[in-house]
Amino acid sequence: MKNSKFIWSNGEMIPWENATVHVMAHALHYGSSVFEGIRCYETPDGPTLFRLDAHIERLYDSAKLYRFDVPYSAEQLTQACRDSISQNGLTSAYIRPLIFRGAGSLGVVANADVPVDVIVAAMEWGAYLGEEGMTKGVDCCVSSWTRTTSASIPVLSKAGGHYLNAQLIGGEARRNGFDEGISVSAAGTISEGSAENIFLVRGGKIFTPPLCASILGGITRDSAIALAGDLGYEVVEEQLPRELMYVADEMFMTGTAAEITPVRSVDRIEIGSGSRGPITEDIQAAFFGLFDGTTEDKRNWLQTVS
Ligand SMILES: Cc1ncc(COP(=O)(O)O)c(C=O)c1O
Repeated sequence: MKNSKFIWSNGEMIPWENATVHVMAHALHYGSSVFEGIRCYETPDGPTLFRLDAHIERLYDSAKLYRFDVPYSAEQLTQACRDSISQNGLTSAYIRPLIFRGAGSLGVVANADVPVDVIVAAMEWGAYLGEEGMTKGVDCCVSSWTRTTSASIPVLSKAGGHYLNAQLIGGEARRNGFDEGISVSAAGTISEGSAENIFLVRGGKIFTPPLCASILGGITRDSAIALAGDLGYEVVEEQLPRELMYVADEMFMTGTAAEITPVRSVDRIEIGSGSRGPITEDIQAAFFGLFDGTTEDKRNWLQTVS
């Protein structure tokens, strides 16, 4: 990740190094923030945001689930995302809008004294799970930590506090020499990676856990399902037992940061041939083809910055 020049902060573009928060900010103490991760790709038509509207919609849904009164409209935050690319002179980038409870009072339940602050940062950021992983596949493990459930928190909200669970899952995996950790739901079915949704292929069909498997409703997940359909593959969303991963023919993870990354092993068990499978490669090609013009943008997912 590379720092940029400016960050949009509460309506103004300010120098990156001035975008600081007070140590008494509610979000620092209690994890009260919601956020997005959006990618901007360099395309033949110039810098292009991928599914910006869907990300902004999910941001407001996340805020609603935690009762944040967002002081800016969706149009204003959409423009802030565009400005964070153009004013930083970026061509390909990762955009991070963040809505958080600032410094006011320290009650766990924020009162009217606690402001809702908003920033949008944009910076260069390459392949999340490494360039090599995109072709060769990554090594994953099933975490000893279970994914949080909708019985305790609204899992569909992309909220800061939820990422303590993700840090345990991803951190444990990396400390044990894996590239990423995969969690199971409280019911023991496959949930998701620490910051990615999971797909597996068996007998030519593609399977992915449903929203009720304690997953974030990934926008890349939704894109992969649509692209797989366009390619003629059947995609089944259903609860999947953990062990189906070990006997899958192929497996991949999706996410804004991870994009479409093949998985070559889980718990040191090779998936299929132990390398990127042909269906995974097809879906990867369709996904990345959106950005070089080889895949038609049928659904208006691409929005140029200018
Ligand atoms: C926990 C979690 N699951 C799944 C995803 C994938 O979602 P998306 O494709 O919208 O980036 C992310 C990344 O944002 C995530 O943090």
